[in-house]
Amino acid sequence: MSSKINAQEKQILYDNHGRPLTYLRLAITDRCNLRCFYCMPAHGIEYLPKPEVMTFEEMERMVKILANMGISKVRITGGEPFVRRNLIDFLWKLREIKGLEEIHITTNGVLTHSYLSELIALKINSVNLSLDTLDPKRFYEITRRDELSQVIKTYHGLLENGIKMKINAVVMEGKNTEDLIALAELTQKDSVEVRFIEEMPFNGEGTHYPILHWNYHKIRQTLEAHYPELERSQDEPFATAQSFQIPSYKGKIGIIAAFSRTFCGTCNRIRVTPQGTLKTCLYDGGVLNIRDLMRAGQEDEMLQMAFLKAFRNRAKDGFEAEQSRKTVVSESMSTIGG
Ligand code: GTP
Ligand code: 5AD
Ligand code: SF4
Repeated sequence: MSSKINAQEKQILYDNHGRPLTYLRLAITDRCNLRCFYCMPAHGIEYLPKPEVMTFEEMERMVKILANMGISKVRITGGEPFVRRNLIDFLWKLREIKGLEEIHITTNGVLTHSYLSELIALKINSVNLSLDTLDPKRFYEITRRDELSQVIKTYHGLLENGIKMKINAVVMEGKNTEDLIALAELTQKDSVEVRFIEEMPFNGEGTHYPILHWNYHKIRQTLEAHYPELERSQDEPFATAQSFQIPSYKGKIGIIAAFSRTFCGTCNRIRVTPQGTLKTCLYDGGVLNIRDLMRAGQEDEMLQMAFLKAFRNRAKDGFEAEQSRKTVVSESMSTIGG
């Protein structure tokens, strides 16, 4: 691992595999107002006691340290970020952090439309909206809540206000595979990227299927069968998604091989969970607790050293990270943030 100064004099941090680390995914809460099939069991999930969750002051201090080390993009995740009180004040604090250029949010959209004017004022860089179906009955079956109309309100609000948006749809056998085309059709008139995601076993229970049926290839074949004119298009740098486009359509379509893990070679992401656990890969079991170090009174310099040590020992990919775990993958995505 090394750090270099680039042409703009910005510090860039590299891991032990030569990958730049520039992107922090920060899960600010494990609480959620939905109960998605692919994320949580219907009942029996216990939320973290409040004192275990990092305060916004602790999170702000941590982001400052990381921005100073080269992190330039943060994505706020959860649980559902908008169920945590004072989120907007926290986002304003993040906006003041030197070196932090981009703030993004991943949300389920149930409460988000009430905060549109604040998001515009904040110049939020983009919003990724979880939306697995446009059918109210299937929405209820997947999320176990009757909130589709609120999510659609957020969708239109984001579009009308020109906020960059991507749709996240997890593809699940027996749940929403008939929705692929209806979701892809959103890209005809709307400037949005609709991304289909392979389901991962982060659902509080374990794997839902003996083998993952709806993998990248099957999703792609299904889209190509309906749209023979589907074209591959330019991927964003460090993207999780492979991008496609239907000629003459306004938006884009993406496929995220989250379970097949084909994009680890360019992974620029680290994660911090609500209780302060650092994950240098989505699939690892946690490599450091930053909240505990802060609460033990460690200075910023010590925290920076602890981060550096962890970044020097990153697994090369999600398979190696999974192998190094003590327990099999079965935690809820609400405790990681995706
Ligand atoms: P962008 O900043 O728009 O590139 O967002 P993103 O795709 O990284 O984030 P988002 O929160 O929208 O997540 C979309 C899907 O990608 C979710 O299912 C995430 O769990 C998954 N994902 C994000 N990062 C990783 C990763 O590093 N590895 C794997 N396997 N999946 C990831
Ligand atoms: N597999 C794949 N994606 C998931 N997400 C949540 N749980 C899973 C899972 N088990 C996605 C949601 C959300 C993003 C942060 O993670 O669609 O948009
Ligand atoms: Fe909530 Fe997101 Fe999990 Fe669905 S995927 S239950 S919206 S945290």
